[in-house]
Amino acid sequence: MTAYRDLRVALLGCGSVGAQVARLLLEQREELAARTGAGLQLVGIAVRNIDAPRDVELPRELFTTDAEQLVLGADIVVELMGGIEPARGLILRALEGGADVVTANKALIAAHGPELADAAEQVGAQLSYEAAVAGAIPIIRPLRESLAGDHITRVLGIVNGSTNYILDRMDRFGDSAEDAMRVASELGYLEADPTLDVEGYDAAQKATILASIAFHTEVPVEAVYREGITGITSAQIEAARHAGSVIKLLAIAERLTAADGTEGVSARVYPALIDRDHPLAAVHGGKNAVFVESEAAGELMFYGAGAGGIETASAVLGDLVSAARRHVAGG
Ligand code: HSE
Repeated sequence: MTAYRDLRVALLGCGSVGAQVARLLLEQREELAARTGAGLQLVGIAVRNIDAPRDVELPRELFTTDAEQLVLGADIVVELMGGIEPARGLILRALEGGADVVTANKALIAAHGPELADAAEQVGAQLSYEAAVAGAIPIIRPLRESLAGDHITRVLGIVNGSTNYILDRMDRFGDSAEDAMRVASELGYLEADPTLDVEGYDAAQKATILASIAFHTEVPVEAVYREGITGITSAQIEAARHAGSVIKLLAIAERLTAADGTEGVSARVYPALIDRDHPLAAVHGGKNAVFVESEAAGELMFYGAGAGGIETASAVLGDLVSAARRHVAGG
């Protein structure tokens, strides 16, 4: 029987996801302890402005503006600040100190995943980022672990909820692109810079992460072909419907073999025509789905909420529980 341990959890960022993670950590303390054999003690939440309004009321004494200090001495660091710096520097510091790190930061993992994974490996720490792709949907762990004994041949993903929402409104309700985009914005689906969504940058970051894991190789984001949805017109959507198809912004990653036998990975994001009978055609609104084709398992589809504070917090908590169990097992 393993001994009960208290683990110090430091949270960096308290936006819509961070606030829900903090709430769940505090409210589910006993349940999480029973599941992990560890007391997950939220020791602090680093934010830029302590007085900023939050989605959830949290004890004021938990807040600090000193992220560097908070990271020191933590057993698990949960990074939900977003952006490259200071998130990258703080994660490196946490890993160098031996802490496990959980992050939802897709831009950071897409750009610096290998560097961070190396830093984690050097000290035997765990870096996990289930929430970085497709929000609540478990897809990183299934690709990395559940399908580890299989050969994945292709991954097709609707991994950007806002563009799926826009295209879906245009297709099913005849909305103009402008109207659909306005509603997507009101619903909070878009990034602060909506260009990241509509020009496919967000989906390309997620494609990089999926491709790298599915094909056990580094696929830099610069290598992902990218085309957004800004050129898509209502007439094109109408024409697709008449042809029995639907236009979806897809992130596609597949293994290719060249004529000379060399193997490579193609990763691309573009508005693709898919048959209305394909399961991905039934992914409506702001939902996400990842369709995986593999040699032994055949076709699999992972479907659900690709964004949202509480939904994404579910994926973060899953990684936290996994990190806590690892600490407990490691003594
Ligand atoms: N802007 C993103 C989307 C949020 O629309 O999917 C979740 O990553």
